[in-house]
Amino acid sequence: MILAYFSLLILLLLSSSCAVDHEYFINDNNYVPRNVTKSDVDLVEFPLNLEFMEAEFFLWGSLGLGLDKFAPELADGGPSPIGARIAKLSPLIRDVIAQFGFQEVGHVRAIKNTIAGFPRPLLNLSRESFATVMNDAFGHPLEPPFDPYANDINYLLASYVIPYVGLTGYVGANPKLQSPTAKRLIAGLLGVESGQDAVLRTLLYERGRENVEPYGIMVTEFTNRISELRNKLGRHGIKDEGLKVKREVGAEESIRGNILAGDEYSLAYDRTPEEILRIVYGSGQENKPGGFYPNGAEGRIAKSYLGVGELIKKL
Ligand SMILES: *[C@@H]1O[C@H](CO)[C@@H](O)[C@H](O)[C@H]1NC(C)=O
Ligand SMILES: *[C@@H]1O[C@H](CO)[C@@H](O)[C@H](O)[C@H]1NC(C)=O
Repeated sequence: MILAYFSLLILLLLSSSCAVDHEYFINDNNYVPRNVTKSDVDLVEFPLNLEFMEAEFFLWGSLGLGLDKFAPELADGGPSPIGARIAKLSPLIRDVIAQFGFQEVGHVRAIKNTIAGFPRPLLNLSRESFATVMNDAFGHPLEPPFDPYANDINYLLASYVIPYVGLTGYVGANPKLQSPTAKRLIAGLLGVESGQDAVLRTLLYERGRENVEPYGIMVTEFTNRISELRNKLGRHGIKDEGLKVKREVGAEESIRGNILAGDEYSLAYDRTPEEILRIVYGSGQENKPGGFYPNGAEGRIAKSYLGVGELIKKL
C-alpha cells in the first residue's frame, strides 16, 4: 500500500515536471527543453532588454566597439545601437568598464542559453538620449547638453543610470520564480549587477564633492537628482536613493552617506517590469516607448503593453 502510494507520488512528480511546456522552447532551429515554467520564461526574458543595453554601453564606452564585434551571434541580427561611442576615460575607469562590458556579454549569453530570448532591440545610446535624462532629472535643460562620453565623471554618472535599474528588477522577479534553474540564474545575475552598481557608486562617492563641469553642480547632487527622477517615473514610492541622503533615509536612520541604496532594513529595493519600463522609456508609462528604447523593449511582458498602446493609438 505504502509502496503503491509512493509510486503514485513519484509518477505525479514526474508528470508535473514534464508539464513544463516543451514546445515553448522551439525557436528557429533550437529545441531546448529546460525546467523553466512559462511564467519563469517571461520573467527571465524581460531583463535581457537591460543586459543588451548594458553590454553595448559598457563595451562601446570602454573599447569603441560593441556586440557586433565581440559577440555578433548574441545580437542575432538586431539593429546596431544609435549613437554609442568610445568615451574619454582614464586607464583605470576604462579597465573597469571593459570588464563590466564583457560581464554583460556573459549575462546576455546566460539568459539566451536558458530561454530562447530575442535579438538585440533598437537602443538609443546617443549623447542626446543621456542628455534628455539629465535635463529631466534637473527639470530644465543643462547648458551645454550633458555628454556621457566626455570624461570619467560624466561616464560614471551615465552608468549610474543603468545597472541599478536591472538590480531592482532582479530583486522584484525573484519571489515570483518557480523553477530552480530560473532562480539560480536570476540570483547569479543579481549578484554581479549589484556588484557593478556598488563599484560605480564607490567610484562616484570618492568624487562626491567634485563638481560636474561646466555646470558647477556636485556629483552627489547629480546622483540625487537621477534617483529622484527614477522614483518619479517608476510611480511606486522611494526605490532609489542618491549618494547623500537625509539621515532618516540612511542606514538605521543614522547616517547621511549612502554608498549603497536600501530600504529601512538596508535590503535592496524591488521593481516590477512595469516600473522599469516607465523608467527606461523615460515616459513614466509602460506603454509609451522612447528614451533608450525608441521602438520599445522586447519580450512577452514588454510587448503586452505595446499591444495596448498600439490599440489606443488606433482608437
Ligand atoms: C529537471 O528536473 C529534473 C527532476 O526534478 C531533474 O532530475 C533534472 O536534473 C532537472 N534538469 C535541469 C536542467 O535542471
Ligand atoms: C535618440 O534620442 C534623442 C534624444 O531623445 C532623439 O533626439 C533622437 O531622435 C533619438 N534617435 C532615434 C533614432 O530614436
